[in-house]
Amino acid sequence: MRIERHLDALARRAIQDALGVEAEPALRPTQDPKHGDYQINGLLGLKAKLGKPPREIAAPVAARMLEAAEIAEAEIAGPGFVNLRLSPAFVSQALARDLDDARTGVPAAEPKERVVVDFSSPNIAKRMHVGHLRSTILGDALVRILRTAGHEVIADNHLGDWGTQFGLLIAGMREWGDEAALDREPIDELERVYRLASERAKTDEAFAEQARAELAKLQAGDATNRALWERFVAATRKSLDAVYATLGVSFDLWLGESAYHAACAGVVDLLVSKGIARESEGAIGVFFKELDDAPKDLRATKEPFLVRKRDGAFMYATTDVATAFYRRDELHADRALYVVDMRQALHFKQLFAVAKMLGIETRLEHVAFGSVLGEDGKPLKTRDGKAVTLESLLDEAATRASARIQEEGLDLGPDEAPAVARAVGIGAVKYADLRQNRASDYTFDWDKMISFKGNAGPYLQYAYARIRSILRKAEVDMDAVRGAPALDTPAADALCRVLLRYGEVVHAAAEASLPHLLCDHLYAVARGFSAFYEQCHVLRAEGDERTARLATCALAGRQLRDGLTMLGIDVIERM
Ligand code: ARG
Repeated sequence: MRIERHLDALARRAIQDALGVEAEPALRPTQDPKHGDYQINGLLGLKAKLGKPPREIAAPVAARMLEAAEIAEAEIAGPGFVNLRLSPAFVSQALARDLDDARTGVPAAEPKERVVVDFSSPNIAKRMHVGHLRSTILGDALVRILRTAGHEVIADNHLGDWGTQFGLLIAGMREWGDEAALDREPIDELERVYRLASERAKTDEAFAEQARAELAKLQAGDATNRALWERFVAATRKSLDAVYATLGVSFDLWLGESAYHAACAGVVDLLVSKGIARESEGAIGVFFKELDDAPKDLRATKEPFLVRKRDGAFMYATTDVATAFYRRDELHADRALYVVDMRQALHFKQLFAVAKMLGIETRLEHVAFGSVLGEDGKPLKTRDGKAVTLESLLDEAATRASARIQEEGLDLGPDEAPAVARAVGIGAVKYADLRQNRASDYTFDWDKMISFKGNAGPYLQYAYARIRSILRKAEVDMDAVRGAPALDTPAADALCRVLLRYGEVVHAAAEASLPHLLCDHLYAVARGFSAFYEQCHVLRAEGDERTARLATCALAGRQLRDGLTMLGIDVIERM
């Protein structure tokens, strides 16, 4: 169930009944379980309205709350908060219902929305590096979380397949291209040629001009350039597909920038005819400081949102406006998430403002994230200063996981070991990323990441495998176990109160695009389970006690399995 939503409604009614006013309860989980499970914070704001000290306002509300079957204790605290402790009987029954629910207590979202998640979106002719890792991992987790919450989700890879780089690449291929190398090692060859071409263009104006001309020809549909471009795209796709297969990530759509080229001229005309964009020195752009209906903070900025260059070429911004129309008109999206590095914050702020001025009502959100840093605090690089490639990173993850598994002395047969090492290694990399609030930078630390203790992927996979082993010994099927978990020891009590939050956490993560909320929950479940299992016999228990304890194990197991799956992390049945 969505426990906070449920209690919020309860508190709203109690305030209405006790005080005769409507007010926001501002219900929150308490920081410290000593003070109960939840807290009503909203009564402080009623002081002026009711002309009474907040503690006096809180007293009748607390009394009303105490009448509800859900509540065991309601205490006035501090300047006028109400601390609530849930009754064990209520918690136990609510968990029994979650266990009996095919959705394991995650109610289907109302209203169901259609959400586009634009993520990964790397650039053609370049290798994906660790910087793309966060978008791919975060975006995939959000897709899965939103689907579990009951939404209809479209995963879209908005490839950077249509920029200035293609002019340079085409001109460069003519100069330095090696056909055989392009067949053998396409990405290496494209990167090599691109580097040479962009160097040359900096000092040689004639070459730069030639590159621009090649780009214009490509964009005008020239057959030779089009064929070359298709080769670049196909070669890059092959290497991208390999990485996505390793990560277990998939997309519903691959609509890169090139897919919107035909719509760009119309976008520019529309912006000009509506008075949103204007010409300046031959280019066309939106100048926010001149627009009355632009958001205030953008009106204070100088940077224009350029939609056409002087030479007539369309831009990243132009394709993004066309994309926003497409997502509204063809995909019928209620909401679109752009999972992109924080450094593009200004671009998205501008894009969303332009979309609003154009009357696009789709909710557009920049799901921004920070950088991955090396142990020196700088963006992650290899020892020789190159950006770390994703393939090498994931290979290293598996190697290191395999070593850790041996050190832990885990009992794995020789035919299971390599697959488990891969699942543990890749799961560890993903979890290390997802457990952080996405807005923060984080330091890539192999030892913390691949750990069977603490808030790390392997710890959670191990906790799950342990529950599976208990249920195997009890000869029950995790999904078929029914019963009411009991809050009969301190550890069982604490674990049950954590388990009750699952449905709320999944929806909160979906609404705010914050997978770390789910990570925090799963970590609390794993830790709570380990304390529970130390205190409570499961296999040696009998009768009702055994039923209740198996129910607790099964519910914890289902939350861990479904939660890890939502994070894109493979569960391991035995280790
Ligand atoms: N290709 C871009 C980059 O790597 C990211 C694209 C994000 N999506 C978008 N609709 N702008 O920087």
